[in-house]
Amino acid sequence: MILYKNDIEQLRNLVSSHTKTFLLLDENTEKYCLQTLKDIDLQDVIKIVIPSGEQNKNIETVQFIWSQLVDNHADRKSLLINLGGGMVTDIGGFVASCYQRGIDFINIPTTLLGMIDAAVGGKTGIDFQGLKNQIGVFSQPLAVVVLFDFLETLPKREVLSGLAEIIKYGFIVDKSFLEAKYPLDPTFIIKAIEVKDEITRNDATEQGLRKILNFGHTIGHALETYLIDHNQEIRHGEGVALGMVSALYLSEKYCNLDHKWTVFYKDLYAKNFNRFNLNDIPVDELIEIMRHDKKNEGGDIRFVLIEDIGKPVYDVVVDLKYIIDSVNYLVEYQNDTNYWDK
Ligand SMILES: NC(=O)c1ccc[n+]([C@@H]2O[C@H](COP(=O)([O-])OP(=O)(O)OC[C@H]3O[C@@H](n4cnc5c(N)ncnc54)[C@H](O)[C@@H]3O)[C@@H](O)[C@H]2O)c1
Repeated sequence: MILYKNDIEQLRNLVSSHTKTFLLLDENTEKYCLQTLKDIDLQDVIKIVIPSGEQNKNIETVQFIWSQLVDNHADRKSLLINLGGGMVTDIGGFVASCYQRGIDFINIPTTLLGMIDAAVGGKTGIDFQGLKNQIGVFSQPLAVVVLFDFLETLPKREVLSGLAEIIKYGFIVDKSFLEAKYPLDPTFIIKAIEVKDEITRNDATEQGLRKILNFGHTIGHALETYLIDHNQEIRHGEGVALGMVSALYLSEKYCNLDHKWTVFYKDLYAKNFNRFNLNDIPVDELIEIMRHDKKNEGGDIRFVLIEDIGKPVYDVVVDLKYIIDSVNYLVEYQNDTNYWDK
């Protein structure tokens, strides 16, 4: 259930049907977002604050949250509200789904990426042994509450990270998303939430159609994992934005996608997103990371590609040679002075 600002009474009713309410925040959402929630005037909540950042989406943080729940006598009718970006909603959803075999949780996303993607659809989890989202469960939140107010304090780089996922919907679902740009028109946000909600309701556990949401993610996740492991800054959406260059290249090779879309996207990328120096990234290590991708079966590396705009295909097994070519294509693009040194 997606709730907006006008539905706050419904949120209050959901909260009051529980014995105790816990509120999970990171240090930034405590600083920037807690007041908005206080204004809504929910019942008393017990705060649990965790450190921000992907490097903390791990088992140690999970143990800390579980300890807080135990120490404060959370029971099976307790509620966990996750107030934050995808890091908080992923880990909070996971914590809630395992605590006493599952308690209710509500996601209140505070980043653009959280609103249009991470908080919706019931994927929860943590990173483990250097692998993204390696441990987790599918578990639906009781509700997702979308309040645009939170976007006011969100740094531009985080907004652009969310924009990448909105543009992804342009390639796999509806061409009009390709017109989204910074500063973002909120109608794109509502439309994107509807898309994510509909796809994930029809295929909650990713048996088929839901896989299309992983367009750009095979190489994007591998880059994100590698760079974070090497203490370099990258946002989730930035990885996806980069990964879509390779995915379009492979779509040309495997699905006869018209080259004009790759050209179009390289222009769009250069206008919106950060340039990365990828020269030192070892392709063999990226491929090793891709081998752990959850979309794979039987040792093959599988991609989501597109035949045309709005025509995705999933489970495409791509030859190692072409994966390497597609990474090199991306690296060359990031080095191409025609795009960047104008
Ligand atoms: N479950 C899913 O379906 C799904 C889908 C996509 C991404 N994800 C996960 O989401 C995570 C990325 O989420 P994200 O991009 O929201 O990152 P994030 O949660 O790390 O938030 C980004 C930064 O913004 C800060 N922040 C959050 N809200 C703020 C606000 N309103 N004002 C100021 N600062 C604020 C955070 O503290 C953090 O420093 C990744 O772990 C990714 O794997 C999950």
